[in-house]
Amino acid sequence: MSSYIIEGGKKLEGEVTVSGSKNASLPIIAATILNKGITKLYNIPNIHDTQITLEILKYLGCKIKKSRGKIEINSKNIIKKDIPEHLMNQMRSTVILAGAIIGRFREAKFSYPGGCDIGSRPIDLHLSSFQKLGINIVEDSGFITCKCDKIIGANINLDFPSVGATENIILASIYAEGTTQITNAAMEPEIVDLAKCLNKMGAKIEGAGTNIIKITGIQKLKDISYTVMEDRIEAGTLLCAGAITGGNICLNYKTPEHITPLINKLEEAGCKINIENKKIFMQAPKKLKAVDIKTMPYPGFPTDLQSVLASTLCTAKGTSVIVENIFENRYRYVPELKKMGAKITIEGKTAVIKGTRKLSGAKVKSTDLRGGACLVLAGLVAKGITTVTNIEYILRGYENIDKKLNKLGAKIILKESEN
Ligand code: EPZ
Repeated sequence: MSSYIIEGGKKLEGEVTVSGSKNASLPIIAATILNKGITKLYNIPNIHDTQITLEILKYLGCKIKKSRGKIEINSKNIIKKDIPEHLMNQMRSTVILAGAIIGRFREAKFSYPGGCDIGSRPIDLHLSSFQKLGINIVEDSGFITCKCDKIIGANINLDFPSVGATENIILASIYAEGTTQITNAAMEPEIVDLAKCLNKMGAKIEGAGTNIIKITGIQKLKDISYTVMEDRIEAGTLLCAGAITGGNICLNYKTPEHITPLINKLEEAGCKINIENKKIFMQAPKKLKAVDIKTMPYPGFPTDLQSVLASTLCTAKGTSVIVENIFENRYRYVPELKKMGAKITIEGKTAVIKGTRKLSGAKVKSTDLRGGACLVLAGLVAKGITTVTNIEYILRGYENIDKKLNKLGAKIILKESEN
């Protein structure tokens, strides 16, 4: 496994551009399966998760051409309707490919998805929603087979506003007979981006971004080009990197409204933030003040920035309290941060962070995507050298994060694994 070697103590300064959104790209790549034609996508980040998703589309029979920031997906001749286990296991979000395959072919076969160890991450809401759409589901020795003669629009109320389940219902019901209505739908911006892309292809989706989404079945989609939204979690991560180092940075990022909760918390912690001309300017104080957060579904504070803000608060003045309400196992990074001198105690869903004067460099291990990112941020401010291992987790979701941070003045060296 590869590592980042980080020399701490550098204040971040300068300007950096945020890449395309991982969590919008994955469902939008899946949506191209629904179009028996060619879809051109722009601003897809070149990261492990998008590479695996494109691998699966190639396995299904899609032809994929990549050139200078454009990915052209020809889904005319899809011949397979199953997702191979070795690819299914590589990440969680492969399950939304199932919705797209079922939406077009009314059948699909896949295994339970893999993904980060941030919780059990069941897919019961996905499967129960498919059943409501008239899809028969057979689970046998770890494989799930979905089949039906036709998909019938239905009213589906989600027990929890699951992002993936909302996306899967949309993908599976595009060609349904009649109308599907999702209540208690997830409202994340990535769902709005998926709906915008599908509507441009000719779908009829109303209410994306609210908790009631209506999908009217249609017969055919058309070839289009689409530019995927920016990555709000990367934007938040870069702001926290600036904040933890007492830096002065500028993000080329057009949708600050997507990260209002984080911006509010960084201002509460003493950062001066200005938004103008599609940029976010942030001047951090020498010493941040402690703040409290509770993670919630959008538009609440995003769970994906919980670990990143936690590391930012380790050297703040005072005690911060974090409550993680979305995933039941999203504090796996804490023992690693404690190796660097962080003072954190966990009680169930709550983490209490007592700000310390400084952190010390150490050898620490990424436990998951966002947990790995938080260790990089801690390394930026720690005294001495920090080695973050297992950075393959980080490379799943951040495009060139080391290069971006080094452009801002960090000192991060990538050490490739020997094997
Ligand atoms: C998406 O995951 C994101 N991933 C996650 O980002 C993000 O943390 C999460 O939404 C919440 O915002 C992608 O978009 C690829 P959920 P998803 O279904 O769809 C429970 C990252 O770091 N649940 O909204 O898997 C589930 O266990 C990743 O980029 C069920 O119980 O999230 C969790 O506790 C991590 N049954 C909660 O809902 C189900 O059938 C939220 O899950 C589905 C979910």
